[in-house]
Amino acid sequence: MKQEVSSQYRPRLLAISRSPRSYPVIMVGSPNWCQTIAPPLASWLYKNDLSGKILLPFCSHCGGDAGDFRGDIARLCPKSDVREVLSVVNDGGEELTALIHSWLDRTGITASLPFRAG
Ligand SMILES: Cc1cc2nc3c(=O)[nH]c(=O)nc-3n(C[C@H](O)[C@H](O)[C@H](O)COP(=O)(O)O)c2cc1C
Repeated sequence: MKQEVSSQYRPRLLAISRSPRSYPVIMVGSPNWCQTIAPPLASWLYKNDLSGKILLPFCSHCGGDAGDFRGDIARLCPKSDVREVLSVVNDGGEELTALIHSWLDRTGITASLPFRAG
């Protein structure tokens, strides 16, 4: 897997019936592998035109070096507005819901919603 990441391997993905075209805001995430995004996510970002969209990046990791997850997505999607990354250790534990709420606030996306989920 380390070799897959370092060689920028782009695995073939199973067909997904839903297109990202009609979505202005897309959450994009994967586990952190070798300080960057996992190859299946790289394949998906590479394959889809996400120009002009707001991307909300998130990753899980095991507490090691999380690298530059946001920057790696921004480099693959130079015409997207890539916001702050949510970086969660393992499954985030009991803090996960609070972490997600404060992350969404920091990305600025909450302010543009017509309602705020409790
Ligand atoms: C190939 C591989 C590379 C990984 N590299 C990192 C890393 O660089 N930094 C880190 O904190 N965690 C790293 N991890 C740990 C994963 O990010 C962690 O297991 C994952 O976020 C938990 O999700 P999962 O239950 O889907 O594996 C790596 C895991 C794998 C399998």
